[in-house]
Order: sequence, then C-alpha cells, then structure tokens
Amino acid sequence: MKIFITGIAGFLGSHLADRMIALGHEVMGVDSLIGGEQANVPENAEFAIADCANLTAMTKHMAGCDIVIHSACTAYEGLSVFSPSLVTQNTFQITSTLLSAAIQNKVKRFVFCSSMARYGSQEIIPFTEDMICNPEDPYGIAKHASELLIKNLCKVHNMEYVIAVPHNIIGNRQKYDDPFRNVASIMINMMLQGKQPIIYGDGNQMRCFSFVDDCISCLEKTAFLEGISGEVFNIGPDEEFVTINQLAELIADIIGFKLEPKYMPSRPQEVKLASCSANKARKMLGYKTTVPLREGLTELVNCIKKAGPKRFRYHLDVEIISPITPQTWTNKLF
Ligand SMILES: NC(=O)c1ccc[n+]([C@@H]2O[C@H](COP(=O)([O-])OP(=O)(O)OC[C@H]3O[C@@H](n4cnc5c(N)ncnc54)[C@H](O)[C@@H]3O)[C@@H](O)[C@H]2O)c1
Repeated sequence: MKIFITGIAGFLGSHLADRMIALGHEVMGVDSLIGGEQANVPENAEFAIADCANLTAMTKHMAGCDIVIHSACTAYEGLSVFSPSLVTQNTFQITSTLLSAAIQNKVKRFVFCSSMARYGSQEIIPFTEDMICNPEDPYGIAKHASELLIKNLCKVHNMEYVIAVPHNIIGNRQKYDDPFRNVASIMINMMLQGKQPIIYGDGNQMRCFSFVDDCISCLEKTAFLEGISGEVFNIGPDEEFVTINQLAELIADIIGFKLEPKYMPSRPQEVKLASCSANKARKMLGYKTTVPLREGLTELVNCIKKAGPKRFRYHLDVEIISPITPQTWTNKLF
C-alpha cells in the first residue's frame, strides 16, 4: 500500500514512517518543518517540504495514496490559550485541507492523531472513548472540531476514518529543546544541564506516559484493521498514573540528580487529572504496554545524553502577552 503521512519530520510521524517502511509499504510524507527536523525523515520515504494548509500541494502529493495518517500539528496544549491562532491553524484548518485532498484522491482510510485534550476535565477517570468531549483549551477544541469535521465529510463522501487518541508519548526523536511542550524531555534536558526543573502549580497534576513503540504498534492497526471505521481509540497505557512531582523524582533518580524543583503559578486551563482507559484498544487492537515508565524514561535519558543537552529554542510566537502568560516563556526561564 502507499501511505501518506503528515508531520513525517516530527516525533510520531517519523516513527510511523519507519514502521510502515519496515512492513513493506511505500511512504509519502509532508512536513512544513515548523516543529520537526528533516533528519528525522527515513531515507526510504518520499518527502516534500509543504504546509498542509496548501490544498494544491496536498492534492498533488497525496496522488496514488491508499491511506492517510494525519499526524501534523502544532501540538501545544498549554501554549494554545496564548497562541490560539497558531495552534488552531495547524490543527483544525489543516485537517479540513487534508480531508479535501484525501476525498479528491479517493483515499480508502483517513487516520487522525487526535489528543486526550479532547476530553478536557471529566468527572470520571480514566477517560473512555464514549465520554462527551469537554475540551478546556484551543488545542483540545481544535482537535475535537477536527474529529467532527472528519466524521461529517467521511460520511458524506464515503471514506473510512479512525480517530486515534494518544497521550504523553516519550521516546527517541522527541524534541527536547522546545520550551513549550514535552514535560519529561524538558525536565531531562534541564537536569542534564545541572538546572532544577520548573513545575507549574503544585505538581500534583497526574498523567500517564506512553512509550513510542507501544503507541506505534497500535497506530499501525488503526491503519489496516478491517471493520473499525468510525471508531475512536485511546492509545497508551493506563497502568502507571503519576504526578508531575513523581515524574521529576523518577527522572532525578535515573540521572542521579539532587532534586529541588522550582514551582511557578499554574498554567490556565491545565487539566488536573488526565488518564485514558486502554481497555478498548486492548480488546480491539491488541494493545499491550511493553515498556514500563521507568524503562521508557531511562531510554529517553540515554537518547538525550547521547545527542547532548541543548539550550531551549523559543521558536514560536506567544501571541497574547498578559500578566497570566507563563514567565517561563515571556522571560525565557528554561
Ligand atoms: N507526542 C505526544 O505526546 C502526543 C500526545 C497526543 C497527541 N499527539 C498528536 O500526535 C501528533 C504528532 O505529535 P508529535 O509529538 O509527533 O509532534 P511533533 O511536533 O514532533 O510532530 C508534528 C509535525 O507536524 C509538523 N507540522 C505542524 N504543522 C504543520 C503544517 N501546517 N504543515 C505541515 N507540517 C506541519 C511539524 O513540523 C512536526 O514535524 C500530533 O497530531 C499531536 O497532536 C501527540
């Protein structure tokens, strides 16, 4: 088959491309390089630097592709309340363009990488796929709106679709010099530079972290398994639910760092408790957590050590500067 992967120069997109090539498929990928790096694109993939908002380019590059896996995004949840234009453009708007291109090209299936931000705050944890979405920030709103658009257009134009909902993925090739996202990588990069990590709020917000290989095995199924069109799947573990304080302690223990975190005010709209049930993925996609948290973090530490810690690059515009904009960004504290 020929697989079209958006965001192929990014973390998840490049691992997906590796897996598809290893399975013997042809891969065509696009990326604007706003977040990713060309060096991440596998050698055997066709690649074009292009913005997914460009309909003419997307329609041309997608020609002959059977399946689209849409991974491109500026996936900045915390930043999205301060840079809503940037984040929604590269989340919702590009999804409409890709749908239009996919339908014109008679693509068989459209797989969308959504986010647990779609759930927002819920009464019950872990989140299950049947819950009513209640996104709390522009990123989550744009992901949820994208899902609605996919459902609508796929029904009208008879194209299969699957919504994959990953959460807090860690692993090799994750950007670790980005001050706007990827909490585990930011902490590792800081500690390896001898700096204390910065924690927003009291650090008791809780998350589950997914190792990239476990995520990819499941995403592969969302592309090929028959009879799952229209389904939503949480993808990632639900076994180890940890606070951000515990995450910092674990990383410090792996690195051998004397931890005294700095605490900053909470970020607006940050969901306190967020965990996704993996039951549906276990049952229908054979999901299994094979890499426990400590092991995954150790691998991430080793990757960042090998590549070398880096200075943080403030590469995005913070559109709204106000007294509630985190000082980590306005004063470049990382
Ligand atoms: N990494 C996670 O923890 C996580 C969790 C939940 C959901 N997701 C979703 O998975 C997908 C991949 O995330 P990731 O962590 O690999 O992010 P990433 O930033 O590493 O990769 C995204 C890629 O998309 C590209 N991109 C952004 N806007 C584009 C545009 N307009 N045109 C072309 N390319 C564009 C970026 O340059 C980047 O290479 C995203 O959709 C994200 O929302 C990721």
